[in-house]
Amino acid sequence: MERRTFLKLGVTGIGTMALADNAWALKLYPNPSGKKWAVLYHTWCGSSRDAGIWISEGMGGIADVFDIRENPDLKRFDHIIIGGSIRSARINSSMRKYIEENKGLLKGKIRGLYAVCGNNRRPAGPQQKEMYIDKQLAQFCEVSNVPGKVFNGRITQGLLDRETLELMKQAKMEDYDDLKRAGCLAFGKEILDSMKWLAINRTALIARME
Ligand SMILES: Cc1cc2nc3c(=O)[nH]c(=O)nc-3n(C[C@H](O)[C@H](O)[C@H](O)COP(=O)(O)O)c2cc1C
Repeated sequence: MERRTFLKLGVTGIGTMALADNAWALKLYPNPSGKKWAVLYHTWCGSSRDAGIWISEGMGGIADVFDIRENPDLKRFDHIIIGGSIRSARINSSMRKYIEENKGLLKGKIRGLYAVCGNNRRPAGPQQKEMYIDKQLAQFCEVSNVPGKVFNGRITQGLLDRETLELMKQAKMEDYDDLKRAGCLAFGKEILDSMKWLAINRTALIARME
């Protein structure tokens, strides 16, 4: 092999390695849209992540979906949906901290809130919405009247830390998966529809003032 060709290949190889180091483990490539939407979640067992992806799909795939540990640049987004997973009846503390630390950047951009819980495998309903959305997430985000939804999620013991796994074993808990894609898609549509209502009402208000 000629020295020049060898060097060229070597440089390309280094470039590829550098890129691989910067690669994201999971990146949803959203459909082109004039609007800048993001879903932000925190997860242990992955159901809050899957719910986020399916919510975006319900909106026509226009939102990019991030684990908050990726620390996305919030200035890029105009519309944000936040999802938190539940442990011991609380929204994950990292999500709460993240909301507090990014209050300024999130202000006026929150369009939807969701939580994912186990609820002893009973369907989550209005009581869980009040507990996890109205009395926690909505208050942390300082919003009211944005669509909110609680989904049933899952437990995958292989993803839990040793201490938690031990507790789960003592409680004789087994793996389960109750997250339903259809519910997440419908919630994505509900969020988009709420935005349309907002736009219609704003236009009507302006017309009335003229
Ligand atoms: C240690 C532990 C505590 C939990 N506590 C609750 C709880 O108090 N209430 C509840 O409804 N679900 C509880 N769950 C179930 C989780 O909310 C459920 O697994 C959910 O899917 C987690 O979201 P994730 O898949 O995004 O991590 C708990 C799960 C674990 C592992």
